[in-house]
Amino acid sequence: MFRLGWFVNYGFGAYGWNQQWSGNVAQDVARPQLFEQGAQILENAGFDYLMLEDASVLYDIYQGSFAYAARRGLIRQDPMPLVPLMARATKHVGIIATMSTSFYPPFIAARLANTLDHLTEGRFGLNLVTSSPHAAAQNFGHEKHFEHDLRYEMADEWIRAVKALWNTWEPDAVVYDEANGVFADPDKIHYANFQGRFFSTRGPLNSVPSPQYHPVLCQAGGSGVGRAFAAAHADTIIAADPGIDGMRGYRDDITRLAEENGRSGKDVKLLHLISPVLGDTDEEAWARKRAMNAAADADQTNQLAALSYISGIDMSTFDLDEPLPELSDRVNGHQSSFSVFAKLARSGKTLREILKSRRGQETVELVGSPQTVADRMEEVMEQVGGDGFLVVMPFTRRNLTDVGDGLAPVLRRRGLIRDGYPYRTFRENLTSF
Ligand SMILES: Cc1cc2nc3c(=O)[nH]c(=O)nc-3n(C[C@H](O)[C@H](O)[C@H](O)COP(=O)(O)O)c2cc1C
Repeated sequence: MFRLGWFVNYGFGAYGWNQQWSGNVAQDVARPQLFEQGAQILENAGFDYLMLEDASVLYDIYQGSFAYAARRGLIRQDPMPLVPLMARATKHVGIIATMSTSFYPPFIAARLANTLDHLTEGRFGLNLVTSSPHAAAQNFGHEKHFEHDLRYEMADEWIRAVKALWNTWEPDAVVYDEANGVFADPDKIHYANFQGRFFSTRGPLNSVPSPQYHPVLCQAGGSGVGRAFAAAHADTIIAADPGIDGMRGYRDDITRLAEENGRSGKDVKLLHLISPVLGDTDEEAWARKRAMNAAADADQTNQLAALSYISGIDMSTFDLDEPLPELSDRVNGHQSSFSVFAKLARSGKTLREILKSRRGQETVELVGSPQTVADRMEEVMEQVGGDGFLVVMPFTRRNLTDVGDGLAPVLRRRGLIRDGYPYRTFRENLTSF
């Protein structure tokens, strides 16, 4: 059996804007309905979780301006207030929202996550990111962003501070002893007195322990330091290393790093990105895929803008019909995602050809009828050795229905995904096999 998650890749943003099957975008932007309905579809389908991406910047690296982001609607509302609304619309599915360890003070993070874990009745998760562009750092009063590896050192200390705050109340500190007028036992509440190089916090929290005590932790950075951080702290990792070898290598690496941190590889569930293209028949799915590829190749600005964001390099300055100059893997942004591209750039192909050869973030290509795609998913999971897939596609009702009502039932009938949620909390369900 394996797990399914959905990467809501513009967070509480706009999806399908100006595209076919976009629905009534004006009705969906900055409103909860699409996300509530999506969560219901995915829970019905047997998904373990949804992961809401986030960024605290209006992209302005591509062409040195936010004009592209504004025209294309690359906006994001704050995902945190959406979480309890999605939880109220569902009963079991896990809901992960993204938080930047570089900008959230640990006390605010610990208390907010604790409160959201209460409001979701134990179904909240935090996706820990270090954030990338300088512009994001400037929104928080910094001159420029911290250097890549330093950000992970900070993140490690940050999560230790947050955990120290969660631990300030012992799990059984609340007694509700009405007869004696005692709400909580003060002997079971402690100061955190956390003193680090980057963060210090006194504690204790002024909120009661949450159903999961520590909400689920998710992480996505795939550089060496990113993997080490994830192996030390994450319950689940979302991975974008392409190909069976890349996926298996990531899995093996995380097992080794988890063991070095006194954990078991089984404690960390690794989900690999996929973007399945489905149809009633294989032919229909391939026709869709060809049309999608042709549309992407006819206008590559989306890809260029995304690459500009993750690397901090304005990709509009390069000629599409020339090979690229040497680009370092060690950009101060999303190193692991950019290194996949930088490697392709060294092949001597033109920029246009490189963009064509990797249009998205998927790890394996999945195209066909639900039966064909399910066959391939089963095969890939066997070869990789776990733990599941994370779907990344625009969060439109059509895509949700294709996967939730088309693909998932085939997987469930074959016993490949869960058919229900045996436990109350997100972590218990996630780690139940
Ligand atoms: C699937 C996936 C999802 C991600 N989601 C976010 C996100 O929501 N917000 C963000 O700032 N970074 C996000 N990132 C970036 C990573 O969290 C990380 O900061 C980045 O990859 C840099 O780390 P690395 O150099 O270790 O790869 C994501 C990366 C991947 C692969």
